[in-house]
Formats: sequence, structure tokens, C-alpha cells
Amino acid sequence: MGVPYYLAPMAEISHRAFRELIEDFGSCDAYFSEMISAQALLAGGHYEKWYIDAAPKPEKLVFQLVGSDFEAISQAAALLDRLECAGIDINMGCSAPLIRKTGAGAAWMASIDRSGELIARVRPLVKRRLSVKLRIGYKDDFGYLAQFCRRLESEGVEMITLHPRTVTEKFKRLARWEYVGALRQELKIPVSGNGDISSAEDLVRRAAGPCDAVMTGRATVRQPWIYASARRIESGETGQKKTYNIEEIGLRFLELLSRYQPPDFHVSRARRFFGYFCDNLKWGTFLKNQLNREQTLLEIEQAWRRYFNEHEEKAQV
Ligand SMILES: Cc1cc2nc3c(=O)[nH]c(=O)nc-3n(C[C@H](O)[C@H](O)[C@H](O)COP(=O)(O)O)c2cc1C
Repeated sequence: MGVPYYLAPMAEISHRAFRELIEDFGSCDAYFSEMISAQALLAGGHYEKWYIDAAPKPEKLVFQLVGSDFEAISQAAALLDRLECAGIDINMGCSAPLIRKTGAGAAWMASIDRSGELIARVRPLVKRRLSVKLRIGYKDDFGYLAQFCRRLESEGVEMITLHPRTVTEKFKRLARWEYVGALRQELKIPVSGNGDISSAEDLVRRAAGPCDAVMTGRATVRQPWIYASARRIESGETGQKKTYNIEEIGLRFLELLSRYQPPDFHVSRARRFFGYFCDNLKWGTFLKNQLNREQTLLEIEQAWRRYFNEHEEKAQV
């Protein structure tokens, strides 16, 4: 088997229902959770039990924490570490302005000392694998990134995932994968690469290195079977390419969503998922817009079914 494949942490997507869907096709090696607010977790918010639901494979689940406060992140990490899981990840890469404004996510990358101090505080409280997900930094400066990561490593971080874009770069500019290999040269701990993988073939190509693991986000929402397909390619399996029934998979996801997410989350999470999954369809943009107008899960399901009644030939990819 090649290097491990990881599901990326994605807010409103990387929850239990989506992991269950991936399991239908074949597992990946670690599932990163959507980011969990350290403050909200400690406050015992109404929805926290869904955020910390580690099923269906708790032994593969990495909880990702987001926050700006030393004490809150430390306490939240200690709390999550007591649950069954594979590790704790600290979000130092989220570039959303609302998150950064609070000093969380990629804002950590502004200061090596502050981030080093955070890890020094969290490390003794976590027995499981402690990792950090980050970006290149505020500037396109590999020297700074290397220094930042060496400090995290010296404080006890055991793995780094690099999404090689600067903090302010959007998806338009391609991820600079050469930084993943270069960072690996600088560190003793494993470096996982992430960004712009679009197919199983692409995943296998990236896994050939240099990197210690590969993480995929949006491509997995479009193709929840991507890990299974990549393993088949790696094992040299030939023969007919598998086909997937897009209508059935969409219905299965809606069923999982209603089973494993709270009702208040149903519509927003369905829209998030179909925002990518509809890309499998010829008139996907039209359908996405339609689903975005529906107000209940039942209406979303009806609109989904209607599309396939009208476009029968598009049910398979
Ligand atoms: C909808 C969405 C939500 C995301 N939420 C998070 C998050 O909670 N934590 C995080 O570290 N990154 C988050 N990301 C970034 C992804 O983990 C990943 O780094 C990025 O999508 C690039 O990988 P990809 O090209 O494979 O999608 C999110 C991305 C998307 C598209």
C-alpha cells in the first residue's frame, strides 16, 4: 500500500454522514473532522455532540480544533483526547476573514513564537497524535514556512499538513506542491500534502511523492469513491472502469444526513454537499441553483429525483 490518504477537514461537509458515505465505497486512512470551535466545545453548545461524533471509524478520526485562545484550545484538546480518536489537529490554515479576525486559523501563522507557545501548552495534555494544518504563510516565503514548522516540530507536533497557498490566495491560483517536498526536507516529522487533487489518478500521482500522506477535500465530495478508485489503480487492477449511480448516491447521502445530523443542519449541509456533487451532472449548475432554493430536506430530495426523471441518461458516471 502507498502513502496514507486523508479526508480534509471541511466545515459543514466532513461530518459523520459524509464519512458514512465514503465508507460505502472504501475507507480512507484518516478522516479529519470539520473544524470544531474550542470555545463552543467548552461551553457545551447544543450541537457539540454532533461535532464530536467520531463514528463510523473513531480509530481513524482526527478532531480538528479552531480557536485563538491558549487556554480554550488546551482545555478543548485535553477533552477531545479523552474520546476515542486517532489524533488532534490544530487549524492554523483557515483563511476565512471571519476566523482570522478573531486570531484563529491562519492568523496563527503571523507569529512563530505565539504558535510555538500554543503547542508547548497543548502538547503535555494530548497523548494522541498532535498535528497542525497550515498554509505557506502570509507571504510566499519558504524560509519563514520552514522556520515556523521547525518550531512546531521542536514543541512536539507530530505531523504537518501543508495546503501550499498563501493565506490570502483563493482557489484560483494552483497549489504549489513543490513546497510539500521542500518542507519534507526540512523536517523529521511526516508532511502531508493537500490541494487541487481532482481525480483518483491525480491522487495516485501525488501519492508517489515526495510526501508522507495526501489529503483531499473537494474532489472527495465530488467523488466519494476516490480513495477506493485510487487503491485499485495502485494495485494495478485492470478491467472495466467502475460506474457510479449518481442519483442513488445522492439519495443515500440525504438518508445519512437525516440520520446522523441534527434537523437544523439538514438543509445547509445538503446544499454544501450538492454544491460539489452536482458537478458530476451535465446540468449540474442549474440543479445546484434549484437545490439552493429549496427549504427542507424533503424538497431537496424531490428536486433531486425530478432532475433524474427529466435527464435519465445522466444517472451514471
Ligand atoms: C467547504 C470547505 C470547508 C473547509 N473547511 C475547512 C476546515 O474546517 N478546516 C481546515 O483546515 N480547512 C478547511 N477547508 C480547506 C480544506 O481542508 C483544503 O485545505 C482545501 O479545500 C484544499 O484542498 P482540496 O483542493 O483538496 O479541496 C475547507 C475547504 C472547503 C472547500
